[in-house]
Order: sequence, then C-alpha cells, then structure tokens
Amino acid sequence: MNLNFSQVLPSLPYILQGVWVTLQIVAVAIVIGFILGVLLSLLKIGRIKALRFLADAYTSVFRGTPLVLQLMIIYFGMPQLIGYDIPAFAAAVAAFGLNSAAYISEIIRAGIQSIDKGQTEAALALGIPYQEMMKDIILPQAMKNILPALMNEFITLTKESAIVTTIGALDIMRRAYIVGGQTYAFFEPLIIAGIIYYVLVMGLTLLGKAVERRLMQSD
Ligand code: ARG
Repeated sequence: MNLNFSQVLPSLPYILQGVWVTLQIVAVAIVIGFILGVLLSLLKIGRIKALRFLADAYTSVFRGTPLVLQLMIIYFGMPQLIGYDIPAFAAAVAAFGLNSAAYISEIIRAGIQSIDKGQTEAALALGIPYQEMMKDIILPQAMKNILPALMNEFITLTKESAIVTTIGALDIMRRAYIVGGQTYAFFEPLIIAGIIYYVLVMGLTLLGKAVERRLMQSD
C-alpha cells in the first residue's frame, strides 16, 4: 500500500476553494429549478390541455435523457447555434436548473394533489380566487408534505454537480482530480473530495430537518 495523505495536505486549500464553486452552482440551480418547477406543476394540474401537454413533455425529455448529456449540449453544443461561448458556470446552472425543474415539478404536483379536495371546495365556496387559494392555502400545506422529497432532490443536485468536471468548471471534484494528476496520487485527493461532499450533504440534511421541525410546530 502506498498512501500518503500528508502529501496532499498543501493542496487542501485548493480543493476546498471548490466548495464555493460547487455551492454557487447548486444554490443558483435550486432557485431556477424551484421557480420553474412550481410553474410547471401548476401547468400540469391546470385546465389548459395544451399547457398540460407541454409541461408533461418537458418533464419527459429532461427526465428521459442523462443530465451529463444536457450539460454537454448546453456547453459544447449551444455555441454552434447561438454563435458565442457560454461560460461553464452559466451552462452548469442552466443544465442543473432545467433538469431539476422536471423533478421538482413532479414533487410539487404530488404535493398539491395530496391536499384534501375539501380545501379547494371550501376555498371556492368562500369565493376565494384560484390564484389566492393556491398561494395562501394549497401551496403552503403542500410544501410541508413535500419537504423530505425536496431535500432528496437538493442532495441529488449537490452530488450530481460533480459532473461539471466534464466542462472544466473548477468545482470540488475537478480540483481533486487536478491535484491527483499533479501528485500522481489520485486516491488521497479523491477521498478528500468524498469527505467534503459527504459533509455538504450532511449539512443539507440537518438544514432540512431543522426546517421540518419548524414547520411541524404549526401543527
Ligand atoms: N444521473 C442522473 C441522470 O443523468 C441524475 C439526474 C438528476 N436528478 C435529479 N433529481 N435532478 O439522469
């Protein structure tokens, strides 16, 4: 066995700088994915057939093809159509945001449909407009039910963000890989990257649990 963690120690700050890159990509992608996901879910349960079809088709395509392919199409393929290069960061948040929206829209749709019909009927009987009913009555309750599923999605996104390595973004994963190449020892930096991802996911998990506890207080 030929392990020497002290050899990668000087590179630790370099790898850790990737945490910021990873977190930025994930945070922006979550916001895009969430907003687009809510919109798509509303279209899916809406009354307009054409929009329902479009929203379903969207999910079908983004869930039916690999995320790494979507990322590469945006980063390597799109410049061919639009005539200029897309920065790796923008390509990453676009791919992750668009992909995540497909999953989030299904999570939210399920959440909305899990709310008892009586709520809608009561709101309508009271003359509350559809938009207000959704915003003030249905969505807040749905959010509480789907929190664990949403946390799952955010965790997936955090780990999947490692594929930005393929387009050269200097995230945790790519930095670990670069250090491996420089020191001719991949095992140690990759294990360090693994520990960092694990800590990030644990942080997200704790955050999710805290939010869940907070929401439960109102029950
Ligand atoms: N590896 C999967 C794929 O390429 C990950 C999909 C992303 N998943 C997600 N929940 N956003 O399709």
